[in-house]
Amino acid sequence: MKFFADTAEIADIKDLADTGLLDGVTTNPSLIAKSGRDFIEVTKEICGIVSGPVSAEVVALDHAGMMREAEILRKIADNVCIKVPLTIDGLKTCKALTGDGTMVNVTLCFSANQALLAAKAGATFVSPFVGRHDDNGFDGMQLIADIRLIYDNYAFATEILVASVRHGIHVLEAAKIGADVMTAPPAVIKGLVKHVLTDKGIEGFLADWAKTGQSL
Ligand code: E4P
Repeated sequence: MKFFADTAEIADIKDLADTGLLDGVTTNPSLIAKSGRDFIEVTKEICGIVSGPVSAEVVALDHAGMMREAEILRKIADNVCIKVPLTIDGLKTCKALTGDGTMVNVTLCFSANQALLAAKAGATFVSPFVGRHDDNGFDGMQLIADIRLIYDNYAFATEILVASVRHGIHVLEAAKIGADVMTAPPAVIKGLVKHVLTDKGIEGFLADWAKTGQSL
């Protein structure tokens, strides 16, 4: 499963890129606002750090407006992936852009039928938001399992990008289901390394090493 970082914070992206764990980055208008940076400028910087897809989201709601914004965004770098909302205009834009060879991430997916539409429109990625789905009393992981089943039934090439990931269980379940990608805040990705027995083990080994009186 590919790991994308869901952030526009340069320091966090650099830090994760150094671990070799990072396959791409997703941003959205809220994350850009949180970064306090200029959208174009920060996206360019991220594209220079990560060679994989970097999702940059349009804000227009109509097809013509989305195409105009996508034109600006895709000029930033070859690895920009245009993010469009799961609406009829978003799907039209998806079809036009992918027909042109541009990567498209269809975002804000909350049902398997929506995911089916995204695949039929030729999306590179579909982003079901598991955390927000859970928050609203639905089963986010069941949604991922349903989309996996449907995409496999018809051999759709669209990659399932599990989004709105809040904790390690989301990551584990997404991997068990066979999602293609998950995007999570850097803290969630880094949290995956944590295990109390790993910490305890290091502590024990260091204590015993001290008893040997040796040094390296
Ligand atoms: C995905 O591309 C979105 O940016 C993101 O995962 C949304 O997550 P949130 O529900 O934590 O805002």
